Amino acid sequence: MSDRPADPRTAALRDEAAEAIRAATTLEAVEALRLAWLGKSGRLQDVLRGIGALPPAERGPAGKAANEAKGAIEALLAERLEALRTAREASLADTEWVDATQAAATTRVARGLVHPLAAMRRELEDLCLAMGFEVLDGPWVEDERHNFEALNIPRDHPARDNQDTTWLEGGLLLRTHTSPVQIRAMETRKPPIRAVAIGRVFRHEALDASHENTFHQIEGILVDEDVHVGHLVFTLRTLLSEVFRKDVEVRLRPSFFPFTEPSFEMDVRCLVCGGAGCPVCKRTGWVELLGCGLIHPNVLKAGGIDPARWSGFAFGLGVDRLCMMRHAIDDIRHFAAGDVRFLAQFAGGLHG
Ligand code: DAH
Repeated sequence: MSDRPADPRTAALRDEAAEAIRAATTLEAVEALRLAWLGKSGRLQDVLRGIGALPPAERGPAGKAANEAKGAIEALLAERLEALRTAREASLADTEWVDATQAAATTRVARGLVHPLAAMRRELEDLCLAMGFEVLDGPWVEDERHNFEALNIPRDHPARDNQDTTWLEGGLLLRTHTSPVQIRAMETRKPPIRAVAIGRVFRHEALDASHENTFHQIEGILVDEDVHVGHLVFTLRTLLSEVFRKDVEVRLRPSFFPFTEPSFEMDVRCLVCGGAGCPVCKRTGWVELLGCGLIHPNVLKAGGIDPARWSGFAFGLGVDRLCMMRHAIDDIRHFAAGDVRFLAQFAGGLHG
């Protein structure tokens, strides 16, 4: 483009545009000027539209001048864009760098910890899955049928006294044990069934070092043909040996639960004294650990399973108790107290 345009009108337009373009300091500003001058409703269009109104003799030179101005402005815009791009690239080294050594030197992010109960729960779930049990969940808010009746605990049964219940409106309640998940599993599956449920339960009772009004249980059931107590003992001994990371010795004592027949308490040989007798096992050499038994035919029936063909075992135990034994924790109330000094002791634990 020549520096000396043919028409003074070209020069006037070009000078005005050039001043604006020189003042633009960003790529976006240059683009905005392109629209303002060369766009459909830009300055140059106004000029072109005005040409029709000129006397015929002036139209030719005026059109030429407008075209020259357009070419000149395009060239100025391109020049400015190029200059701004070059400048930006040159400044990148100053504006867009990172210090690869900085993060390690100055940033310390506090890491959360896995609660010891959560770690215990994950570990139990992994173990049970590895043993071929599916892991189920059940609601905390239960109905009377799942928490009691289907488990062979009718309304006036004395067993209800042992499970101080928090009642809610509409006959609902906070589940007092994980056993209702047995019923839910049977209702939704066909035998053979192998399932565990681990979760929170609620009891309306006085607190002390071994009683909380919310704690955790693991419940297990197996339903198949010809299930007997040997299957139960084998399964639990295997599970507990994994939990305590050594071969544990177990024994059964006859007991009573409405939902099993026969019912047992299972004890483990004291892990502290090895059976010689110590304060932990109250000098008996054995520690009472869990309730279990063969599933009562009424419970199978309530779950929609024919007790003439199928049988099963069930067990239930306190996860908090297991966790306390594992870490030698002496008061169950620590778990929900939210004191990070307590929790921090388990940092770097199994899943921490
Ligand atoms: N539900 C019982 C409780 O909370 C524990 C229990 C005992 C569960 C025996 C079972 C079982 O499945 O067979 O005290």
